[in-house]
Amino acid sequence: MSPKDQIRYNHASYTKVKFTMRKPLVAGNWKMNGSLKDVGALAESLKKGLAHQSQVEVAVFPSFIHIPQVEQILTGSPIVWGAQDLYIGQSGAFTGEVSGSMLADLGCTYVLVGHSERRQVFHEDLGLISAKFKAAQNANIRPILCVGETLEERENGKTEEIIKEQLNSVIEASGIEAFKSAVVAYEPVWAIGTGKTASPEQAQEVHAFIRWLFAKQSVDVGNSLRILYGGSVKADNAQGLFAKPDIDGGLVGGASLDAAGFLAIVKAALQKTE
Ligand code: PGA
Repeated sequence: MSPKDQIRYNHASYTKVKFTMRKPLVAGNWKMNGSLKDVGALAESLKKGLAHQSQVEVAVFPSFIHIPQVEQILTGSPIVWGAQDLYIGQSGAFTGEVSGSMLADLGCTYVLVGHSERRQVFHEDLGLISAKFKAAQNANIRPILCVGETLEERENGKTEEIIKEQLNSVIEASGIEAFKSAVVAYEPVWAIGTGKTASPEQAQEVHAFIRWLFAKQSVDVGNSLRILYGGSVKADNAQGLFAKPDIDGGLVGGASLDAAGFLAIVKAALQKTE
C-alpha cells in the first residue's frame, strides 16, 4: 500500500468506523454437496454444538432442495439459514429458478448474491447481480453480497478497482442505505477452494478499503456493515483472520461440511467478542 493510501484509510470518517462492535457472523456455504442424510446429520450436529451460543451469528446455506429439511431441524435453534442464489422474478415462466418469496416461505434469513462461482461458471454480470440484491431485499431476505478479484487482477494491481466496480453497481442500483440490512463477503477468487488463504494482513487491507468505500458515503453504514472474509477459511487459520479489526467473520465453503471443523471456526469468531 502506498503512503497516500495509508492516509486515505485513516480518513476522518473511517476513524469513527474502527471502534464499533459488530456481531460476528460465520456462514457455511454448503454449495452443491450432500445427500438428505448427510445434510440432516450436519444440521443436527451444528444444532447440538451451538445450542447455547448467541454472541456469534451462525448461518448455513444448503442447496435449494435441502432447505426444507434444514428449516425443520434448525427452527427454534440460534442457527439461521439461507439460500445460495435466487432469481429476480417473483413468479412465472422462469423454468428452473427460485424466487425470493419462495425462500422467505422457507424461513430464509439470508441469500448469497454474486458468489464468484455464479459470476464465473454461470456468467452472472453486474446488472443481474444488482437486480438479485434488490430482489432479495424486496422479499425481506438479507443479501450477502460476494465480491473479489481473480489472481490475474491482483497481480495487475487491479484489486481495488474490481471490488469498487462490483460494489458500486449494487450501491447505484439499491442505494447506500440498502446496506444497513446487508452483508458483504470479500472472497478473493484465487483463495476459493484452493487451500490458498489470503493472509490476515492481505484480507484486512481489502476489508479496510471496502469499509472506507461505504463510510465515504455513510458513516453509519460503514460503521455497522459486516464484512466477512471467504476463501479457504479453516479451523487453523480462522483465528488470525478474525483477529483483524475489519474482518467480522467468515463465509466458509469446504470446511463448513465438517461439523467439528465448522464449530471450531465459530469458536475462533467467539474470541472476537471477548
Ligand atoms: P472455500 O469456499 O472455503 O471452500 O474456499 C468459500 C466460498 O466459496 O464461499
